[in-house]
Amino acid sequence: MPYANILVTKQDGYAIVQFNRPDVLNALNIKLMEELVDALEILDKDDEVRAIILTGNEKAFAAGADIKEMADATAIDMLIRDQFARWDRIRKIKKPLIAAVSGFTLGGGCELAMTCDIIIASETAKFGQPEINIGVMPGAGGTQRLTRAVGKYKAMEMVLTGKMISAEEAVRWGLVNKVVPIEYFLEEAKALAKEIASKPPVAVRLAKEAVLKAFDTTIEGGLEFERRNFYLLFASDDQKEGMKAFTEKRKAEWKGK
Ligand code: CAA
Repeated sequence: MPYANILVTKQDGYAIVQFNRPDVLNALNIKLMEELVDALEILDKDDEVRAIILTGNEKAFAAGADIKEMADATAIDMLIRDQFARWDRIRKIKKPLIAAVSGFTLGGGCELAMTCDIIIASETAKFGQPEINIGVMPGAGGTQRLTRAVGKYKAMEMVLTGKMISAEEAVRWGLVNKVVPIEYFLEEAKALAKEIASKPPVAVRLAKEAVLKAFDTTIEGGLEFERRNFYLLFASDDQKEGMKAFTEKRKAEWKGK
């Protein structure tokens, strides 16, 4: 896959997509986002891939959308470009997305991490929605996803002051799953991806879908959705194999069907 702004690798049943604009702290320009969405959609259909890690480098996951690219735009330019609409396609990716973040995870970078399903952070990670400092506000999900993750008051403080929080605060506030020493953040994400890749893929897909449903439905609608997905799994070979293997006290062999 010939990309200029991202690097894509595959191993052990998962893929790693690494942002590759280190000179500008992985600022997310339109081209990078086009490549990212394209790569994710291809990996989503790739049977060898059962989880996808998004990462940057030790200094920055991403310091936000590319300010220089947007600086001179008019409102109508922004409306026509509608660049953040592309980000919605990431929400439709069916395979689990793990963000492995270190350093600056700001603005669109924080929003991109929050679009993932799991966030592993290095001790040096710094999270923030600093858009207020450049005369705008979060535009790629920050006001919605951050509020759902940390609650109204902490989200309000971050969005209105633009202040960064440390990895340690982020884990306490429920914004990340786990904080590890910098030398292990990618290793930790890889171990998690490998573990998820060893699970029955259809169950993983339907379980992810059901958890995400909790964000846009009533409890009743969500419970109904969950139950149907649960029943649906009884049409899979992997449900038969999983339950048979349990009773026979052996390791299940998944077919992914
Ligand atoms: N867009 C474009 N370029 C960026 C960038 C961004 N978001 N963030 C950093 N860069 C560039 C800098 O311009 C600089 O490039 P040059 O060497 O060519 O000048 C390079 O990356 C290194 O950055 P700094 O010299 O500023 O590094 P620092 O260590 O002194 O500061 C920082 C780091 C605090 C993260 C600072 O770079 C910064 O504040 N960046 C902007 C953060 C921001 O406001 N993000 C929100 C963007 S808007 C958005 O994301 C909207 C949305 O909702 C999607």
